[in-house]
Amino acid sequence: MNRKIFIKTFGCQMNEYDSNRILDTVKKIEFIKTEKLEEANCYLLNTCHIRDKAKEKVYHEIGRVKKSFRLKKKPLVIVTGCVAQAENDEMLKREPFIDLVIGPQSYHKINEKIKQFLDRQKKIDETEFDTISKFNFLNKIKNTSNKVSTFLTIQEGCDKFCHFCVVPYTRGPEYSRTFREIINEAKVLAENGVKEIILLGQNVNAYNDKNYNLSNLILEIEKIPQIKRIRYTTSHPKDMTDDLIKVYGISKKLMPLIHLPVQSGSDKILKLMNRKHSVKDYIKIYEKLKKINSAIEFSSDFIISYPGEEVEDFDHTVELIEKIKFINSYSFIFSPRPGTVAENLKLIDKKTSMERLTKIQNKLSENQIEMHKSLKNKIINVLVENFTEDKTKLFGRSEYMTSVVFDGKKDDIGKIVPVKILQSNRSTLFGEKHINSNQKVA
Ligand code: SAM
Ligand code: SF4
Ligand code: F3S
Repeated sequence: MNRKIFIKTFGCQMNEYDSNRILDTVKKIEFIKTEKLEEANCYLLNTCHIRDKAKEKVYHEIGRVKKSFRLKKKPLVIVTGCVAQAENDEMLKREPFIDLVIGPQSYHKINEKIKQFLDRQKKIDETEFDTISKFNFLNKIKNTSNKVSTFLTIQEGCDKFCHFCVVPYTRGPEYSRTFREIINEAKVLAENGVKEIILLGQNVNAYNDKNYNLSNLILEIEKIPQIKRIRYTTSHPKDMTDDLIKVYGISKKLMPLIHLPVQSGSDKILKLMNRKHSVKDYIKIYEKLKKINSAIEFSSDFIISYPGEEVEDFDHTVELIEKIKFINSYSFIFSPRPGTVAENLKLIDKKTSMERLTKIQNKLSENQIEMHKSLKNKIINVLVENFTEDKTKLFGRSEYMTSVVFDGKKDDIGKIVPVKILQSNRSTLFGEKHINSNQKVA
């Protein structure tokens, strides 16, 4: 008889990919997905440790689930992801409602660990780094994702050790899957009906398998006829090689938006962060890409108020934003992470940090709003993903990942359709499907 598993996912796209691969895996021991917490026999929380009170958020969430099962049989409770890796057996000690703690490199053992627990009722902590075995196992389990736009992990882990970041400790050293395995998975996804593949890695452009790198992968996936769009995230400026830059001039399917986190516009801060690139390096990449295709746009991540950030450092970040005109970017106030080099540095006061964050976010919004306004009455290509939640309209994405909402038919889902933009706000473009084929696509 099928049992039901409810998965809640925090954090980055890789956690989303992992949650889906966990679902594909537990099917083998007859667990099927449910969207209703109250009917779950198993509750799995896939956690993120990147900022703020990540750990407390997890215990709070578990407390909420515990409450809702007060009068019912307790589900099997599993914590996975980066908090699980960082906290391991501490979690079992602190919260008896948790039964299994499984780190990101041990997901291939999940069925075995669930069975062991159900047989013996003994709490289990499984947080070894065993990436090769994990992917060897997952390669044999079909990826069943059939979403129009789907993630595909090609690389995991990080050897860069930026002083603020917990990822090298929670995801382990850099590991690249083999070229063949990735192409096989991309073909399976194409057969499932997927139209856009987003290649994932904590340092996706550090991908390396013998003589193959990210540019080879993009050009090979491009040969799969059903796949219409290719993206990758998250890349590091240090690994933005010339051959990858060149692919933007060759590929027909690689989208013209590059997410390239810079973190700060000040060389002094980049050095303190141990980022291994300068502002000049970053601008050079920008100029090379713009020369190949002037329509390429950049998005980025920024850390505000990193310890040591003075007014002039902050001003350099503002200047960089004005120069590059980033779209779709993220900005966060520095959050000290346990176990990192920056854990105990002197923090910049809250008021100053909030003022700086607001200024940066307003600047980033201005760029976004300006770009959206410039699209009024223009026709853009939209890959249609689904209906909107209220089912009245269709939802898709522009080549720059912007959400587009428009009137259309069910048949349009999974296709790239021309949409005339009529209105916009900061995050979304609104329009209508364009019928007259004589007008040029922007
Ligand atoms: N590998 C990517 C790179 O090199 O930029 C970033 C991966 S990290 C999962 C995503 C973003 O979280 C980072 O780009 C950074 O802006 C932010 N981040 C990481 N640690 C942080 C911290 N301690 N405080 C605030 N933001 C943080
Ligand atoms: Fe974290 Fe830096 Fe590695 Fe990115 S490159 S995952 S920010 S340590
Ligand atoms: Fe969070 Fe781990 Fe991703 S810390 S951002 S879930 S790699």
